[in-house]
Amino acid sequence: MKQQKRKPEQEIIYQIYPKSFQDTNHDGIGDLRGIINHLDDLRDLGITMIWLCPIYPSPMEDNGYDVADYKAIHPDFGTMEDMDRLIEEAGKRDISLMLDLVLNHTSSRHKWFEKAVQDPGSKEHGYYIFEKGKEEPNNLRSVFGGSVWEKVRGRNEYYFHSFGKGQPDLNWENPALRQEIYQIIEFWKRKGIKAFRMDAINFIKKPEKWRRMEADGPDGRCKCTKVVRNHPGLLDYLHEMNEKCFKSDGIVTVGETAGLPYDQLEEYIGKNGCFTMVFDFRHADLDIRSGDEWFSRAEWKTADLKKRLEVSCSHIQKYGPGTSFLENHDQPRVTTKYLRKDQDDPYGKKMLGMLQMGLRGVPFLFQGQELGMINFERTDVSELEDISSIDQFGRARECGYSAEEALHFVNLRSRDNARVPYPWNEEKYGGFSDADPWLACNEQAQKRRICFENQKNDPDSVLSFYKKLISLRKSSDWSDTLNAGRIRFEEGNEEVIAFTRQKEEKELLVLCSFADHPVKTLCRKGTLILDNYKETDMNVKVDEEGMIILRPFEAMMIETEKRRENDE
Ligand code: NOJ
Ligand code: CA
Repeated sequence: MKQQKRKPEQEIIYQIYPKSFQDTNHDGIGDLRGIINHLDDLRDLGITMIWLCPIYPSPMEDNGYDVADYKAIHPDFGTMEDMDRLIEEAGKRDISLMLDLVLNHTSSRHKWFEKAVQDPGSKEHGYYIFEKGKEEPNNLRSVFGGSVWEKVRGRNEYYFHSFGKGQPDLNWENPALRQEIYQIIEFWKRKGIKAFRMDAINFIKKPEKWRRMEADGPDGRCKCTKVVRNHPGLLDYLHEMNEKCFKSDGIVTVGETAGLPYDQLEEYIGKNGCFTMVFDFRHADLDIRSGDEWFSRAEWKTADLKKRLEVSCSHIQKYGPGTSFLENHDQPRVTTKYLRKDQDDPYGKKMLGMLQMGLRGVPFLFQGQELGMINFERTDVSELEDISSIDQFGRARECGYSAEEALHFVNLRSRDNARVPYPWNEEKYGGFSDADPWLACNEQAQKRRICFENQKNDPDSVLSFYKKLISLRKSSDWSDTLNAGRIRFEEGNEEVIAFTRQKEEKELLVLCSFADHPVKTLCRKGTLILDNYKETDMNVKVDEEGMIILRPFEAMMIETEKRRENDE
């Protein structure tokens, strides 16, 4: 089938964590063939694009975000022929691929880095950030803990790493390095890749001089994001990359840009912006105070979530399509995060789906979200696999929390929550593999019988509800309104997130209740498009005060009359 040319805002993107999607060769590790085998299921879900987490050769210290060769496939995942087939088979189903590009750093096992360390006079030495001296150049803490500086064995020289010490940062200052990067992008474009997710891309600009920072923890260090994230001058590189690689070929790009100030959005996603869209994490990180320390928990209410979404959407809609996401491979399951004690409530799960699909922005679903997967609570630190979870446990202990408290914080945020094997069915390893998987299956979800097979043919399942939501966005009278309509947040009960989406003469009102009990809220009369409760009158009526009663976790999408201009 010939691929249709879609506008970016018409995409429905599904994120696959290849290691955990489907194993086909009995080694307990997901692979590309496993994805190919499920393309029909993905087509039936209605998605238009797959964001594939890194599939490159890697020592897997950070599960592939430590790339050892950008132009090859990790043998655990298959071969380049498998990759070509995946691109082709997906294309036949009108699904395109978005590759994860990790360009802030490589693996320390990349041949460039190996050469750089062996030979300080080599050109590759100039591809990384080295500082000479007997002492660490400053006291910055890396994202995964410890110093950002690692001593080169046998020399008075340190290399810089924002993330793990197996992830040395690249030196974007060097034009020769930038050329290498553009060639990598060309390589994948020639293979038919039309979209890229730019990992940690706002870390690539470093300051001219390193200086000591005021400590923000008992380790005497200061988090490096204060210095190396969104550093002035960053945009010069991003614009150059866009000019050279993306712009003229209509490549879709999404920047992972945590902490991006809203007043810079135009440069990123405006008419002459360097990316198609960016991720804003403020709503996803509302349960932690600093955005990166999992033990600094924040209390939050529905109204706080609403406020964050409102601020984000209203800034982003001035410029570009934006993104709408609730989960990814770095986030816990949204059910546990937003529904808390009601994490397994089917109405709550569907309500979250309605929230995401109703919001303005290209929807990004993370594998398992469409089944309403929940977090997996570990009982011992030894069960953790993720580099960040292990570090956060140690940091919490260092900051005075008991082992029990530290594990609790990690359980709430651990990246392993999202990374567990996909539950296809109720067989031993959830149908993911017939061998012991690389990461244990989520037993708590298994006990609740959450799996694809149980939901596939059930019209009331969370999966079926996601399918309805996707088809509303993709191919209904409401597609334009949902894909490109303006968003405006509405007044109402403080446990309800309410907003309208409006384009030309059409207007939709979306109401999402986060309450586990009935609540009364403002509404407008209209025709029901979709509700997460079955028994609902299509004709939406309101009382004389303009109110309606929503049942626990009820979500409604209503076609309303367009507000008159002077009401706005
Ligand atoms: C962001 C990725 O999403 C995360 O998984 C990874 O650990 C870091 N960047 C480092 O590449
Ligand atoms: Ca395998």
